[in-house]
Amino acid sequence: MKIMKIILSLVMALGFSLVNLTAGFGAQAIKLPVPATKGTVSLEEALQNRRSTRKFANRSLELAQISQLLWAADGINNPQGKRTAPSGRAAYPIDLYLVVGERGVTNLAPGVYRYVVADQALELVAPGEFRPAVAKACNSQVWIGEAPVIVVITGDIKRSAAKNGDQAALFTHLEAGFVGQNIFLQAGALNLGAGVAGGFKDKPLAQALKLPDNDTPFMVMPVGHKQ
Ligand SMILES: Cc1cc2nc3c(=O)[nH]c(=O)nc-3n(C[C@H](O)[C@H](O)[C@H](O)COP(=O)(O)O)c2cc1C
Repeated sequence: MKIMKIILSLVMALGFSLVNLTAGFGAQAIKLPVPATKGTVSLEEALQNRRSTRKFANRSLELAQISQLLWAADGINNPQGKRTAPSGRAAYPIDLYLVVGERGVTNLAPGVYRYVVADQALELVAPGEFRPAVAKACNSQVWIGEAPVIVVITGDIKRSAAKNGDQAALFTHLEAGFVGQNIFLQAGALNLGAGVAGGFKDKPLAQALKLPDNDTPFMVMPVGHKQ
């Protein structure tokens, strides 16, 4: 009887913690480690060494590196929810998707994830290996499918239009550029390599990533250890 009671209370406690874990982020959310605000590579060194990398070592990334890259790209850096990248009238039309390959990130299943900026978390969009589909949509650029992860910068011009009117498309594209350079510099500061591809077909890429209708892909950035 006593054992039954213990088992029952354990089951209840487990159920309660699972509910708590999923309450804030949705069922498939993965909280990322807290990003660092100090590093060992100077901004000047990261700028001096910035180069497109198209050859990646067959080595996984760590969740802390993913967290750092996404936070640097467009994460929150003040209590008012402002970001590492500037945004026209603070409309924040940019969304980031992370394509994780097989063994791409330690303790993270392959799939397409969306970066949930407000929670510094990842939300699973679709499980599975999507790098070949992304590479194919990028005019079959083979190197893109060889990186352990691919960050895709997308934008919702309608979200910007509410504040920026006729300039929404321009502002959203400009903001994507700021985010892309942040990724390049943070990758360099982590001694990782990053590349960028604007050569892709919109629709196949959007379909491969299961993007919502309003999100348009702007830039594809494979990241990994340099070969
Ligand atoms: C908007 C844009 C689109 C690009 N698209 C591609 C691409 O589809 N494939 C590729 O291999 N490189 C692409 N690049 C990278 C350029 O080829 C690269 O930045 C340029 O050759 C200079 O080399 P670096 O980045 O090493 O300095 C793109 C760069 C930009 C800014």
